[in-house]
Amino acid sequence: MKLSKLYPLFFLAGGLSLLLSACSAPEPTTLKDAYAGKFLIGAAINTHISSGRDTASIRVLRAEFNSVTPENCMKSENLQPEKGVFFFDDADQYVKFGEENGMTVIGHCLIWHSQAPEWFFTDENGQDVSREELIQRMKDHITTVVSRYKGKIKGWDVVNEAILDDGSWRESKFYQIIGEDFIQLAFEFARTADPDCELYYNDYSMANEGKRTGVVNMIKNIQAQGVQVDGIGMQGHCGLKFPDLNEFEKSLTAFSGLGCRVNITELDFTVLPGFDPSVGADVAASFEYQQSLNPYADGLPEAVESQLYSRYKDLFGLLLKHQDKIDRVTLWGITDDASWRNDWPIKGRTDYALLFDRNYQPKPVVKELVNLANNSPR
Ligand code: GLA
Repeated sequence: MKLSKLYPLFFLAGGLSLLLSACSAPEPTTLKDAYAGKFLIGAAINTHISSGRDTASIRVLRAEFNSVTPENCMKSENLQPEKGVFFFDDADQYVKFGEENGMTVIGHCLIWHSQAPEWFFTDENGQDVSREELIQRMKDHITTVVSRYKGKIKGWDVVNEAILDDGSWRESKFYQIIGEDFIQLAFEFARTADPDCELYYNDYSMANEGKRTGVVNMIKNIQAQGVQVDGIGMQGHCGLKFPDLNEFEKSLTAFSGLGCRVNITELDFTVLPGFDPSVGADVAASFEYQQSLNPYADGLPEAVESQLYSRYKDLFGLLLKHQDKIDRVTLWGITDDASWRNDWPIKGRTDYALLFDRNYQPKPVVKELVNLANNSPR
C-alpha cells in the first residue's frame, strides 16, 4: 500500500490520542484526592482549629484531609467535668466545623481510663463506687454524648486502651470495679444510642504480639455475646525503629480476620532518641528532660529526615497493599509544632513527627505518598 493512502489513518490516530490525553483527568496532587476510593485521610484537630482561629492549619486541612478526630474535646474529663454537668461547647463546635468542611467526623473517645474525671469512679467519701453505680455512670455518659451527635458522627472510639502490651487486661477502674464486661456494656450502650454509628475499639502498640493476641481474644469474646464491633483502631504512634512493619501487618490481618474494618487512628513517627517501645503511647509516661535527648532543636539532619520519609513510605505502601481492609488513616495532628510528640514522654523537645512542617508546608514525602497512591491500582 502506498504510504500516502495511510495518511488519513495517521491523522485519525494522532487526533484520537490528543483527544484521550485531553480527556484523561490530571493525576491527583493532594493526599485526600490521591487516596480517594482507597481510604480516608484524617487528622486529629485541636480547638484552635475547630474554633476557626488557626487559619493556616485549616487551609492545609481542607486541601489535604477529609476526616477529623477531636484531639481532646470529647474526652470524658472535658465533656462531663462534674457528675451530670456536661460541657458541650467545644465538642459542638468541633462537629459543626467538621460538617461545614465536608469532613467525615469521628468521635473520640467514650470510655478511657485516662483523661477521665476523678468523680467518675468515686462516691462522696472518695471510695470506689459499686459495679452497678459505675455501669449507670457509663451508661449515662455514653447515652448523653452519643445521642447528642446521632447521625453526625460516622464512628466512635467506644473503648480506648483496655489491653496491656502483654495481652493482659489493664487494671483500670473500669476493669477493677465492673470486670471484663465493661467493654461489652459500653458497646451496647453506644449501639442503643445510635444504631447506625460505627463503633470501634482503639489501642496503641497493636503490632506487639501480646497485644495482638489479647485484643483478638477480647474482641472474639464480646462478639460471642452478640456485640458487633465495626472497627479496630490501630493508633500508630511509631518511631524510626518501632514497630516492625511485618508485625504491624500480622495485626492488621488478624483484626480484619475478625470481620472488623481496620483504621489507623493516631499516626505519627517520632524521630527523637530515648523512645522506648515498652511505654507504647501510655500518656502517663514521663521522663526527665536532658539536652542530649533533644538533638534536633535547630533542624533535622538529612540522614534522619530520609529515615523518617522511608518509614512513612514503607507504612503507606503496606496500607495500600491492604486497602481493602482499611477505611481511614488518621494522622495525630497536621503540623509538627502542634504534635504531642514535642512534649511526650519528655516535655519541651522538638520533634518532626507529622507530614507538614512548622511553616505549614508539606514535607517532600507528601508528594511521594501521593505518587504511591497514584501508582497503586484503584
Ligand atoms: C492516646 C489517646 C489520644 C491522645 C494520644 C496522645 O493515644 O488515644 O487521645 O491522647 O494518646 O496525645
